[in-house]
Amino acid sequence: MTNVSLFPASRRTFIDVLGGLVLAAAIPAGAFGQSLSSIKIATIGSGHEGGSLGTLFAKLGHPVMFSSRHPEELKDLIAAAGPTARAGTVAEAVAFGDVIFLVVPYSAVPQIGQDFGSALATKPLVVDVSNPTARDGQDLMNQITATGGVGLFAAKVLKGARIVRAFNALHTPSLAAIANRPAGQGGPVGVPIAGNDPKAIDLASRLTREIGFEPVLVGDLAKAKYLVPGSPISGLHTAAELRQIAATLT
Ligand SMILES: NC(=O)c1ccc[n+]([C@@H]2O[C@H](COP(=O)([O-])OP(=O)(O)OC[C@H]3O[C@@H](n4cnc5c(N)ncnc54)[C@H](OP(=O)(O)O)[C@@H]3O)[C@@H](O)[C@H]2O)c1
Repeated sequence: MTNVSLFPASRRTFIDVLGGLVLAAAIPAGAFGQSLSSIKIATIGSGHEGGSLGTLFAKLGHPVMFSSRHPEELKDLIAAAGPTARAGTVAEAVAFGDVIFLVVPYSAVPQIGQDFGSALATKPLVVDVSNPTARDGQDLMNQITATGGVGLFAAKVLKGARIVRAFNALHTPSLAAIANRPAGQGGPVGVPIAGNDPKAIDLASRLTREIGFEPVLVGDLAKAKYLVPGSPISGLHTAAELRQIAATLT
């Protein structure tokens, strides 16, 4: 896949909340009103990335619904993810999930906003993992740029949703292989995240930690434009490295 960089070449200050803002681990388990593992996870998009993320949560006992426009094709994924996983249509997943992971080709995001935006706006958290690429078309790329980047564009087309961008900029063939990275191999891989809603950011941080990664809050949805492949903060880094790299982006 050819990823198109949407972060600006100019080095503008955006790390105003970065240094030291890895969110504290001590967010109470009851903050969501239930234990973390009982939170129902739904993925819109159950391909390479959505399937991997949903499986990590299913392995921890979360009820997970993977969705597809052809849910009958998800049998192998469901079998591999285990007994808490099931398949559904996109509409069923939106109805099912407490937390929705949006993991689709970016060209599908505006239509998903039209079809499910009002339901998504009722959720405590929508994690936008999707990245625009050249294959999504120049018109969409231009719209995203004109809106101020991928975070603000998502806020526009998913009006009212509590969006956190996360997991966008890791380069790995297998999330499972780098989850819970041991200290001897560098410790937990850092995941840059960005969002506007503090409670959604807290919840995204807890879920990110739960599956074995270390969230690093980069900023708000305006700053989320840096959370794309090809950005200097993309790739595999520890949380400390992410903060250092981000601090050089002025
Ligand atoms: N692969 C990675 O390592 C990686 C890492 C970070 C971020 N991402 C981003 O995650 C997104 C998905 O990447 P991927 O590699 O997982 O792609 P993929 O393997 O091709 O999977 C795409 C998924 O999106 C679903 N989908 C496509 N159009 C849809 C629509 N209109 N409505 C609902 N679902 C739709 C597909 O479901 P059906 O066709 O079955 O309906 C499929 O499950 C991309 O934006 C990518 O940039 C990928």
